[in-house]
Amino acid sequence: MAASSFLTVCVLCAATLRTGFGLHTVSAIYGETINIPCGQDKLDGLLFGKWKYEKPDGTAVFVATRSAVKNNFNFDDVPEYNGRLNLSENYTLSISNARISDEKRFVCMLITAENVFEEPTLIKVFKPPSKPEIINQPTFMETGNLNMVGDCVANDSYPDGNITWYRNGQVLLPIDGVVSIEPSKEKNATSGLHNMRSTLQYMSTKDDINADFSCAVTYYMPDGLAIMKSDPAVFDIYYPTEKVTIHVQSPKKTVKEGDNITLKCIGNGNPPPEEFLFYLPGQEEGLLSTSAYHITDIKRNATGDYKCSLINKIMIASTMVTVHYLDLTLTPSGDVTKQIGDSLSVSCIPSASKNVSVTWMKNQKILTQPSFTNLQYRDSGTYECETSLMEVDGLRRKKTLRLAVEGKPRIKLSKRTNADGKSKTIIYEVEGFPKPEVQCLSLGNGVYLNKTEETTVSYGKYSAKIIISPEENVTIICSAENKLGKETFSLNIFAISTPEPVEPNDRSGDSNDHAKLIVGIVVGLLLAALVAGLAYWIYIKKSGSATKHVGKELGNTEENKKLEENNHKSEA
Ligand SMILES: *[C@@H]1O[C@H](CO)[C@@H](O)[C@H](O)[C@H]1NC(C)=O
Ligand SMILES: *[C@@H]1O[C@H](CO)[C@@H](O)[C@H](O)[C@H]1NC(C)=O
Ligand SMILES: *[C@@H]1O[C@H](CO)[C@@H](O)[C@H](O)[C@H]1NC(C)=O
Ligand SMILES: *[C@@H]1O[C@H](CO)[C@@H](O)[C@H](O)[C@H]1NC(C)=O
Ligand SMILES: *[C@@H]1O[C@H](CO)[C@@H](O)[C@H](O)[C@H]1NC(C)=O
Ligand SMILES: *[C@@H]1O[C@H](CO)[C@@H](O)[C@H](O)[C@H]1NC(C)=O
Ligand SMILES: *[C@@H]1O[C@H](CO)[C@@H](O)[C@H](O)[C@H]1NC(C)=O
Repeated sequence: MAASSFLTVCVLCAATLRTGFGLHTVSAIYGETINIPCGQDKLDGLLFGKWKYEKPDGTAVFVATRSAVKNNFNFDDVPEYNGRLNLSENYTLSISNARISDEKRFVCMLITAENVFEEPTLIKVFKPPSKPEIINQPTFMETGNLNMVGDCVANDSYPDGNITWYRNGQVLLPIDGVVSIEPSKEKNATSGLHNMRSTLQYMSTKDDINADFSCAVTYYMPDGLAIMKSDPAVFDIYYPTEKVTIHVQSPKKTVKEGDNITLKCIGNGNPPPEEFLFYLPGQEEGLLSTSAYHITDIKRNATGDYKCSLINKIMIASTMVTVHYLDLTLTPSGDVTKQIGDSLSVSCIPSASKNVSVTWMKNQKILTQPSFTNLQYRDSGTYECETSLMEVDGLRRKKTLRLAVEGKPRIKLSKRTNADGKSKTIIYEVEGFPKPEVQCLSLGNGVYLNKTEETTVSYGKYSAKIIISPEENVTIICSAENKLGKETFSLNIFAISTPEPVEPNDRSGDSNDHAKLIVGIVVGLLLAALVAGLAYWIYIKKSGSATKHVGKELGNTEENKKLEENNHKSEA
């Protein structure tokens, strides 16, 4: 113990003596082990080696001793170093779990019987800070304002580091009113570590859309300066609307009556404005709406200039909306019935948002505008008047007129002897609408005659044939009837055995004036004959006498002879 006290005194003297000699420096990383070589060659006659450090006030604290003779070592009871020290055979002192407080001047003392040699070493401890982080980031930055970008923090550094801000990788330096950087540092009294913080405020512009901001901390490490970067931060840049535009959203390129349209107003700011004032054509007062103003079932009178503006009534945008429409008036239209020979004027007048023309069709065939001064059966049919607006997809109109031309029946008979000489062909042609029912009767025996199927000669004109082989002179009478009236036509036919006169008499019914004069008489006679015949026939039937005789008697009457010369026609 006495030796120890003596040594302490001596060491103090030595330390003072050695002042001014060059200092070794050992750099260590926080938490790792500090190896401090003794820094002196091995000495002959070495008794033991000792380590001490010096407190700021100059007093020494011994921490470890190694005996060269006994080859053992022990540590002094210094709480700060309990369990952290090692002293190797070559007197290198190892301090594990390096702390900031280990930054001291340590002195290695080698002691011989005659002398004490001291070698001081300065310890430097370095700790890198935590990765810098940008906290207190805003969700957006507004142009024209000094915006908070965030606080860059890097903690627990030793020694203290410096924070630098970057925009798109370029260092940001303070600029009055544009870039404001406020750095601050604080030291943790217990750990001795430094926390660094830097607050950036920045005047943003639209150029900062997508710009990235980052910070970095520079700090000292044993081998010099090191740098560590934060993650980049990108901000939504808010800027005011500089321009307003208005669009029309419609189902098709053009707007037509009945469409639902939407007027869309857009401001180019960020975030885009959500409310606008919409001005309808001719209206001074704006209607407050979201960016979409809907118009359902738009009418033609809604054509005009539509405007919208921001709610502060600045930046007005305008667009022209033309509501296309197409009307068609056909007079008369629908089902129309007229009499033959009547006149009828039709008109088809379009009314549209643009000049249009109309097309007339009858039975899928194009025709010019019809005009009827003298209606014929062939004029019957379905007339369509059509128009369309080329500019507007799918805007077409069609009106229909179903015209029916009616007329009383008109019938005409003709005859010819067939080539075989044994039969004759009676041909009738009938006109009229609705289509007349035709019945033909042989006056001689009152028998209805079979006729061939009617064929159409032309529109509203039909024809059929009757083939007979008369053994006696007979009169054929045909009647045509529809709801408008009835007409009969009679024709005398000679018996097969009697040659027909040379002159054509089949058309006499139409053209012979004489025939026309006696039409009344003939009809009377015919009817009288028919009635008489029928009466007689009934009488015979009742009395059971032969019927054949009747036809003969009828055929031989004076009246019948007259009929042979002329064909007669009567209208009922
Ligand atoms: C001292 O010894 C330790 C291990 O025993 C070794 O790592 C170190 O390099 C030695 N130092 C010197 C200066 O010889
Ligand atoms: C921090 O900045 C100060 C002042 O400019 C400078 O002296 C120091 O070396 C810097 N430290 C680092 C780690 O860059
Ligand atoms: C227009 O909108 C109304 C109601 O929203 C709807 O009933 C109608 O069918 C729409 N018209 C068209 C042509 O889409
Ligand atoms: C447009 O016409 C409709 C009827 O088709 C009418 O109800 C409406 O008041 C008219 N609007 C204007 C602005 O004239
Ligand atoms: C429509 O036609 C009339 C005369 O045919 C003409 O005066 C007018 O300018 C035309 N209008 C349009 C929109 O083409
Ligand atoms: C008319 O035809 C029917 C059958 O087609 C026939 O039964 C009848 O006898 C014919 N009448 C005359 C008068 O030829
Ligand atoms: C038919 O009439 C003609 C002329 O009137 C007459 O010459 C002829 O004998 C008559 N035929 C029959 C079969 O009665």
